[in-house]
Amino acid sequence: MPADKPDILVTAPLPPFLYDPLKADYHCHDYHLAQDKSAVLAAQGARIRGLVQGGGTMTPTSLLDALPKLEIISVFGVGYDGVPVAYCKRRGVKVSHTPDVLTDDVADVALGLILMTGRGFVQANRFAQGGEWEKRAPELTTKLSGRKVGILGLGRIGKAIAQRVGAMGMKVSYTGRKPQDVPYEYAHDLEALAAGVDFLVVACPGGEATRNIVNARVLSALGKKGTVINIARGSIIDEPALVAALKAGTIKGAGLDVFADEPHIPKEMLALDNVVVLPHVGSATRETRQAMGDLCKANLDSYFSGKGALTLIPELQ
Ligand code: 8YV
Repeated sequence: MPADKPDILVTAPLPPFLYDPLKADYHCHDYHLAQDKSAVLAAQGARIRGLVQGGGTMTPTSLLDALPKLEIISVFGVGYDGVPVAYCKRRGVKVSHTPDVLTDDVADVALGLILMTGRGFVQANRFAQGGEWEKRAPELTTKLSGRKVGILGLGRIGKAIAQRVGAMGMKVSYTGRKPQDVPYEYAHDLEALAAGVDFLVVACPGGEATRNIVNARVLSALGKKGTVINIARGSIIDEPALVAALKAGTIKGAGLDVFADEPHIPKEMLALDNVVVLPHVGSATRETRQAMGDLCKANLDSYFSGKGALTLIPELQ
């Protein structure tokens, strides 16, 4: 625990089980709730030493410019695509995140979306609840065992997804920056991966390097047999191209937990029957959010007591 109480800028809504302990040990300044944000920066900017944000929070460099004493950004989430990493590196600002603790939950959601889309569970639920079963038999769907799953980004979460679908007898291939020592087939590019699979699962980091890489060409390679699953970031998929492919039926379907402009889901998408949407619930269990909150604060505590952050982002390790 730090001896003094460092000043922390909070730029995203935080759950009480994180915010209350934070407020006990730090002078927290609410930025995201402030009506007059520039007034907060003018009054407090010069003493802010830490910043807490969510995984999806976009942090412009102009905000960081107004925090000359900033030492650390602690992200409440594993994704840090909203953090200007190169800028932080240049300024010597540390960036920590919450890896590992949410891996299983996010992988569960990917598996859930595969089951919901592949076995038509959403429609089947609607059918049963709506009393349709009294009148007729439900539609047949497709067997999942033996089907192919292509994972874009075989990191911690990608591997946990591979394990789960492997246990169901599905076949795994992947693409990413480089081949890894894993028992799954490596595809050299995303189009080739998409062409060979029934489910294309997006599990790579967001940010500029991956913006819209699942584009119209990739979707057309995936084709009518294929379903896109996204548990990573909405920015990775060209959303208008996805809507067009879903409307035209040039891909089979989509199961999405993340969107380009959350919490907004394109209206056209909501009207389609071949899409299952979730409100970004990958890590949304009490246990996991608590563990993320604990780690988010532990990173600050460890840093401010001189021991260094516990889980720095890979670029800064
Ligand atoms: C959270 C996430 O919704 O970890 C991430 O990167 O996107 C999610 O787990 C978010 O970070 C909560 O702030």
